[in-house]
Amino acid sequence: MQLLDGKALSDTIKIELKKESMALNEKGITPGLAVILVGDDAASQTYVKMKEKACDATGIYSIIHKMPSTISQTKILEIIQMINQNPNIDGVLVQLPLPKHIDTTKIIEAIDPKKDVDGFHPFNVGRLVSGLDGYVPCTPLGVMRLLKAYNIDPKGLDACVVGASNIVGKPMMNLLLNAFATVDICHIYTKNLKEHTKKADLVIVGVGKINLITEDMVKEGAIVIDIGINKTSEGKIVGDVDFEHVAPKCSYITPVPGGVGPMTIAMLLENTILAAQKR
Ligand code: GUN
Repeated sequence: MQLLDGKALSDTIKIELKKESMALNEKGITPGLAVILVGDDAASQTYVKMKEKACDATGIYSIIHKMPSTISQTKILEIIQMINQNPNIDGVLVQLPLPKHIDTTKIIEAIDPKKDVDGFHPFNVGRLVSGLDGYVPCTPLGVMRLLKAYNIDPKGLDACVVGASNIVGKPMMNLLLNAFATVDICHIYTKNLKEHTKKADLVIVGVGKINLITEDMVKEGAIVIDIGINKTSEGKIVGDVDFEHVAPKCSYITPVPGGVGPMTIAMLLENTILAAQKR
C-alpha cells in the first residue's frame, strides 16, 4: 500500500506557482482573487482563511468580501458585478454553501466565466462535459493531478465515484470519463453501494460521512481516494473511508488530512494564476 501524498505534491506545485506569479510581476501583473464569504459557517470560515494564507504564500493578492447571513441576493449580485469589472481581479470565488434565502444558481451565473476559478459556472461545466478546456472545479482537478503524479492512468479502469454533488462528484465523473475510465456514479438513492464500490479499480468518495466505506466494500488492490472531511466527536479530522481497515487492502490510498484537501487549494491557486496569465 502506498500513500498518495497530497500535502507534498501541493507544496511542490505551490513553489512552481510562486515562480509563475513572480514572472507575472515582471510584466506588471499581480494575480488577484476575490472571495465572497456569506454568514458565519465555521467550516467555510476555516476554508477561506486557508485559501487566503495560500494566496499570500504564492504572491496572489486576495480580497475577502465578508457579508452577514442576512445580506440580500441583490447586494451580492452587485458585488459580483463590481468584481467582474475590476481589471485587477482575475478570479472570483463564492464560498458555498450560501444561506437558504439566496439562489446559489443565480449567484454562480452572475460570475464572469473568465474569472470563474472554481469552475462552477454552467459555461465551464458545459465545456468540461464536452471535453473542452475551461476552468475545472478544484477538488476533482486536484484528484486528477494526484493520480497523474503517481503515474496512475484512469484509462480503462473501472472507477466508482460516490457522491454526485456539483462541486465534487459530477465534475469528477466527467474528468474520469474524459480520461477514458469506465465510470459508475453512486449517490444517496443508490440501492446497494457495496455492489458498485466492490468491483471498482478506483473508488473516489466525497460524501461527508464517517466510515461510509468499510473494508468489505473495497476489492484487493483498489486505489482509494477520500475527499471527505469530517470532524469526529473527539475533534479529530477524518475522511469518509475507514482508513485503518481499508488501507491494508489498497494499492494506493489518500490520507485525511494530507491527501486531497491540500490539492484543492493548490488547484485554486493554479486556476487563479492561469486567469492572470490570460489577462
Ligand atoms: N464549499 C465546499 N467546497 C467548496 C469549493 O471548492 N469552492 C467553494 N466556492 N465553496 C466550497
